[in-house]
Amino acid sequence: MEQTVGSPPTGEKESVYKETLQQLESLLGEDDDLIASLANTAALLKLNIPSMSWVGFYLTSGDDLIVGPFQGKPACIRIPFGSGVCGKAANLRKTLIVEDVSSFPDHIACDPKSRSEIVVPIEVDGSVVGLLDADSEIYGNFDEMDKYYLEQLVALLREKFRKTVESRSRL
Ligand code: SME
Repeated sequence: MEQTVGSPPTGEKESVYKETLQQLESLLGEDDDLIASLANTAALLKLNIPSMSWVGFYLTSGDDLIVGPFQGKPACIRIPFGSGVCGKAANLRKTLIVEDVSSFPDHIACDPKSRSEIVVPIEVDGSVVGLLDADSEIYGNFDEMDKYYLEQLVALLREKFRKTVESRSRL
């Protein structure tokens, strides 16, 4: 049995992220099941960072991104590469921070209460296999610190993605 997670960490954002990364390393453990790993990651982020109103994953399927494990309200199921913040980040292969989603022309509003968003693409061997998406009901909730730590978090998951990609034709 891996370590359980008790109360969410308190304190400044950076210390919460550092503790979250440590908890995640322990939670992920040796089990390579991708969906289980992503589900626990989304649950941990939602628990530890309450300013995320929605947090989860989209997984690549052909030219689309399909919603995967997440925490929050029901979300758009399928997003084509190139559409919305998610599809743009996937095409650009870089993290996008949107301080005010109403100023992002192609933003897809799964939740009308969402005000800001961050999307971190996940690459394996040069291909985008999915992405981490987080929304907030607070304007400008995400900054370079979120980018730095969420990219570290995605790096922890990359091996799980790689093993799944190698063993299946579809995530
Ligand atoms: N807002 C995203 C869609 C996904 S939801 O936020 C969960 C976008 O514009 O791609």
